[in-house]
Amino acid sequence: MVEPAIEPATQSAVEVIASMRALRVRCDQARADGARVGVVPTMGFLHEGHRSLMRAARAACDLVVVTIFVNPLQFGPNEDLDRYPRDLDADLVACASEGVDLVFAPSVSELYPTYPPITSVRVASMTDSLCGASRPGHFDGVTTVVAKLFGIIGPAHAYFGRKDAQQLAIIQRMTEDLQLPVAVVGCPLVREADGLAKSSRNAYLSEDERADAPGIFSALREGARAVVGGMRRADDLVTVVSEHLAGIANVRIDYVEVVNARTMRAVAALDGDVVLAVAVFCGATRLIDNLAISIDGPAVRIDYGDGWVAPTL
Ligand code: PAJ
Repeated sequence: MVEPAIEPATQSAVEVIASMRALRVRCDQARADGARVGVVPTMGFLHEGHRSLMRAARAACDLVVVTIFVNPLQFGPNEDLDRYPRDLDADLVACASEGVDLVFAPSVSELYPTYPPITSVRVASMTDSLCGASRPGHFDGVTTVVAKLFGIIGPAHAYFGRKDAQQLAIIQRMTEDLQLPVAVVGCPLVREADGLAKSSRNAYLSEDERADAPGIFSALREGARAVVGGMRRADDLVTVVSEHLAGIANVRIDYVEVVNARTMRAVAALDGDVVLAVAVFCGATRLIDNLAISIDGPAVRIDYGDGWVAPTL
């Protein structure tokens, strides 16, 4: 008698690999065959922001690898590691529909046979400001896992969102300093229709908090308006944005800062390429957002997430 076929829990066209060795073999083979390998590192619970990275990778690469790994090394002792949202089945459906070739979803013991590892990759100075100040050790965890993933996968291109502007700048600097043969591609920040930056952590928000959270982007837009109006002192800009944030129910400021876009160090005056970055607690949920601002004399360009514009008052 022929056994009935067992239906997999998830119908997906995407190949899922949990073993580091198997992934390495697959990627080595693809490169040997001349394929351009692209990677999209994620922690899963995928949304439109992640999907936009997959689409960028799909458009430029022959083999697209998405990694799904909630990396314990980048969570502090009192952070949300245990309750970080996870839904591998839905993630695999999303990856399949974006034409991803491979999903690497390892266990913690697969990626860290001894935990915590005693070797880490640390990008100095850029990791002390903004989220690095609020979350000590966070970026060391990020760069360590990303360097590991680059080592296993050997991508020609790696895709990261500008939503995490500091993370992107740090990873760019890591690849420069270590002279890794990877092009780090920064992709647009994807927002909800009401302006809230898409984030896996938005799933934590209560109905009231979700209703208040778009105020974060409104505060950034207020800041942009002030800069377009001629404001050039970083302190003044921080005040404008902080005052706006202070008026939003359920929102408590973690930081509001203006930093140099490359070094992530605080600036006193707005000149050249800077980032206006905020982190707030909306209820108990920590959310981040940012605007890129480029100033050349009286000319101001703003990137609200999806490209440069030259706004007028
Ligand atoms: P995660 O938060 O899952 O984000 C994975 C990637 O998606 C990051 O490059 C992030 O910037 C991008 N992303 C998230 N929200 C976005 C949005 N609204 N618009 C555009 N891109 C967005 O960032 C991490 O995971 C981890 O730190 C990781 C790099 C995977 C290392 O563990």
